[in-house]
Amino acid sequence: MTPNNLRRSFLKKLAGMSGLMTMSPFMTKVLAEDVKEALLQLNQLHPEEAAQDEELWLRIQQAYTVSPNIINLNNGGVSPQPKIVQDAVDRYYHYSNEGPSYYMWRILDQGRESVRMKLAELAGCSPEELAVNRNATEALDTIIFGLDLKRGDEVLLSKYDYPNMINAYKQRAKRDGIKLNWMTLDLGMEDEDAIAQRYLEGITPQTKVAHITQLINWSGQIVPVKKICAALKKQGIRTVVDGAHAFAHIDSNITDIGCDYYGTSLHKWLCAPFGTGMLYVKKEHIKNLWPLIPDHDPQRDDIRKFESLGTRSFAPEQAISQAIDFHNAIGADRKRARLYYLKDYWVQKVKDHPMININTPLSSQFSCALCNVSIAGIDPVDLNNRLFKDYQIHASPVVWETLKGVRITPHVYTKPSDLDRLVNALLSYADQPQKSSLKVN
Ligand SMILES: Cc1ncc(COP(=O)(O)O)c(C=O)c1O
Repeated sequence: MTPNNLRRSFLKKLAGMSGLMTMSPFMTKVLAEDVKEALLQLNQLHPEEAAQDEELWLRIQQAYTVSPNIINLNNGGVSPQPKIVQDAVDRYYHYSNEGPSYYMWRILDQGRESVRMKLAELAGCSPEELAVNRNATEALDTIIFGLDLKRGDEVLLSKYDYPNMINAYKQRAKRDGIKLNWMTLDLGMEDEDAIAQRYLEGITPQTKVAHITQLINWSGQIVPVKKICAALKKQGIRTVVDGAHAFAHIDSNITDIGCDYYGTSLHKWLCAPFGTGMLYVKKEHIKNLWPLIPDHDPQRDDIRKFESLGTRSFAPEQAISQAIDFHNAIGADRKRARLYYLKDYWVQKVKDHPMININTPLSSQFSCALCNVSIAGIDPVDLNNRLFKDYQIHASPVVWETLKGVRITPHVYTKPSDLDRLVNALLSYADQPQKSSLKVN
């Protein structure tokens, strides 16, 4: 056997073993080398070709330490970190404990500048427009509470925006007398101009700001933010984009999107440490956005004024860099193509069943990894519970506005065989007689 074949047969055996936790450091090192080699090979391939190379993905999956005992299809909630990211967090944490105020404040604190630069490169904007924080909620609440809005000013948003953000605007409405206007977004719309038109129809002469969710968490629908931001800009309206589900998943070049403010978590699609997020404020708006937690000069023109969070662990934010390296090693286009491929893999096998509804547009322009499915006559919470009880599949039930279903979210480490189990489960439930009638399309 050639060394490559040996490695492959070793990996095939490994696929049947019960995870990395039991391995010796030597084995872990061999695996890390193999992951590196697989990533290099993946980089030679066109995204569509790479998406289908199961052998390479099997090798890349070894970079994760996910449990072999459950099938996690709720990566939309929060994603696991590759081992190199977990190890970096551990390292920085132990290092901090050698002398917390010295190592955290004198040494690691300086590292934030390099994290900022790497993030800015990934986000396609200037480092002077990016603040590192703890999650999308913190980033977007900084914007929502920091905007200079006065009584009577209006904000446009949608009922499908994320509850934390809706609640923040509602608090401002109660406290400061701003008015909220709701645009009507029909899930499933696949016409960029028509969606942008809906936003335009929602504005009035008092509208100052519009809030847009780039990828809707409930259904996985991609919203044409670039088009919407351009249309609203012409009307003099500033735009806040919630990129929690889009960043490092679909194309999210912030300068290209053309928004004024952007907030995202990094512990979802980037696979960065839990409790990491990012705030973008267009340079010209930094001065006039009030920080949530002020430092000595809340009106200065420096993005760092949004990072005055007090004492917290610096280990997670430092290890964002390792997550960016891993993401770049796969390549944004190859990652997106693989995620879309995985969604399509299971959807194609169930979508024509007369009892099964797919509540997400299927084109790659309007969806990627996230997909919402329902079975006629089965309550989504019940379906979600049964998936775990019968098949150890962890997913997320959605009952929100008009949408009722279970959200299925694979990630790059998900195996087609995991999705076969999902397909098997859905088809077997759908074949059983249900209380109500056929699906509605
Ligand atoms: C669209 C959207 N925005 C914001 C958030 C909040 O993210 P975090 O919990 O990381 O603050 C989420 C979380 O799922 C989300 O789906």
